[in-house]
Amino acid sequence: MTATTTTDDLQAQAHAHLWGHFSKLTPEDAGGTVVIERGDGCYVWDHTGKRYLDGLAGLFTVQAGHGRPSIAKAMAEQAEKLAYFPVWTYAHPTAAELAARLAALAPGDLNRVFFTTGGGEAVESAWKLARQYFVAKGEPGRHKVISRNLAYHGATLGALSITGLDAIKDVFAPLIPQGNLKVPNTNSYRYPELTPEALLAPAEAIEAAIVEAGPETVAAVYLEPVQNSGGCFTAPDGYFARVREICDDYGVLLVSDEVICAFGRLGSMFGAERLGYQPDMITMAKGLTSGYSPLGGVMVSDKIAEPFLENDEIFLHGITFGGHPVSCAAALANLDLLEGEDLAGHVRTNEGAFRAALEGLKDLPIVGDVRGMGYFYGIELVKDTTTKETFTEAEADFLLRGELTPHLIANGLLCRADDRGEPVIQLSPPLVAGPDEFEEIARIIRIALLHAMDAMEKMA
Ligand SMILES: Cc1ncc(COP(=O)(O)O)c(C=O)c1O
Repeated sequence: MTATTTTDDLQAQAHAHLWGHFSKLTPEDAGGTVVIERGDGCYVWDHTGKRYLDGLAGLFTVQAGHGRPSIAKAMAEQAEKLAYFPVWTYAHPTAAELAARLAALAPGDLNRVFFTTGGGEAVESAWKLARQYFVAKGEPGRHKVISRNLAYHGATLGALSITGLDAIKDVFAPLIPQGNLKVPNTNSYRYPELTPEALLAPAEAIEAAIVEAGPETVAAVYLEPVQNSGGCFTAPDGYFARVREICDDYGVLLVSDEVICAFGRLGSMFGAERLGYQPDMITMAKGLTSGYSPLGGVMVSDKIAEPFLENDEIFLHGITFGGHPVSCAAALANLDLLEGEDLAGHVRTNEGAFRAALEGLKDLPIVGDVRGMGYFYGIELVKDTTTKETFTEAEADFLLRGELTPHLIANGLLCRADDRGEPVIQLSPPLVAGPDEFEEIARIIRIALLHAMDAMEKMA
């Protein structure tokens, strides 16, 4: 803020000129758009000085917490030394060092990194890479991608084609590449029966989709270790092993989309590692720099790099700012913190306490399910916990946007109230959070839910 800019000016400027992403142009909250000005650890402060617990780590991103001086310092030093150079033809030290470090951390033979600036670009890059790989291998018919209903893999057109959310796709239908397939997700709260066969049905559906599409046309299956959209769907035991087996049987690549689930979020450096499967590619972004600077990438297996080496072939793809020197410096300093403070271990030690704090809300008749793992949880809200009856679209809108969000914000908690599937509250705090923050999160959610339940009753 300059000396002549008042706090009211900032809101006015935002309302008049800033086009927020997935946001209404008119602020949802009567108090106006919240303008976040600074952060420290698990907390952020708005332009009026009000403090909030950052229950979503910005946007599932700030793993190491806000305000870490070592990351800022590394970025400043890099900007002074070499602010920009591309990784097109050239390399520069921070990209080379980061690539080697990620290759050492990633599971199995994921030994190469293609850097992007974010997650959607990583998702699209992996798709293009899969396509060019199969052309190089003499299987040019393979280009389709299978992904799960409701899953979010990005909003640019290629990534949107892989995203499984009709509500954000329909208006763009004529622009979106066609031919990709969607399969059921692993929403165990709504499985008909908890028999072992029913549990693995979502994996078997992937085989059915490959067969239906024609295996010779399918390039890749994209899965998140824990599916974000819809509310933190974990997979049943055996699911990923079965999907890996199906991919191998039909010669299809398995892409683990870890834009959210890597860098400690699930209690391990990569989500696939914690869940015990070996992908052919991992897409990543967000926590790679803890959000201090934009960076994403695709970890690629030796198998996929092989034809490019053998044929001396160029991957026909590039992004000016992919592997930006300052972003790579931020990522290296971030990895120093994640490893030096063993934040993944901290998550594994404390994830039980996080779950317990959220499960403590189950006495409220609106709380249907608490699900997730690590520091990544969703709370599904229902009309009736016995029948699991959900809310109508209008009710969900009133509940989430009309009641819950304003009460959560007013009481100092930033998290996500989302109804891209059934209504859920989503939580993904910075990995430095512990029992005190969990208690505060649960306390504020209880207050907001009690208000919302009261308002819903009055509305009925
Ligand atoms: C699993 C997953 N993939 C891809 C993306 C897109 O990432 P970005 O917003 O950086 O393009 C997201 C964003 O939330 C995501 O959660």
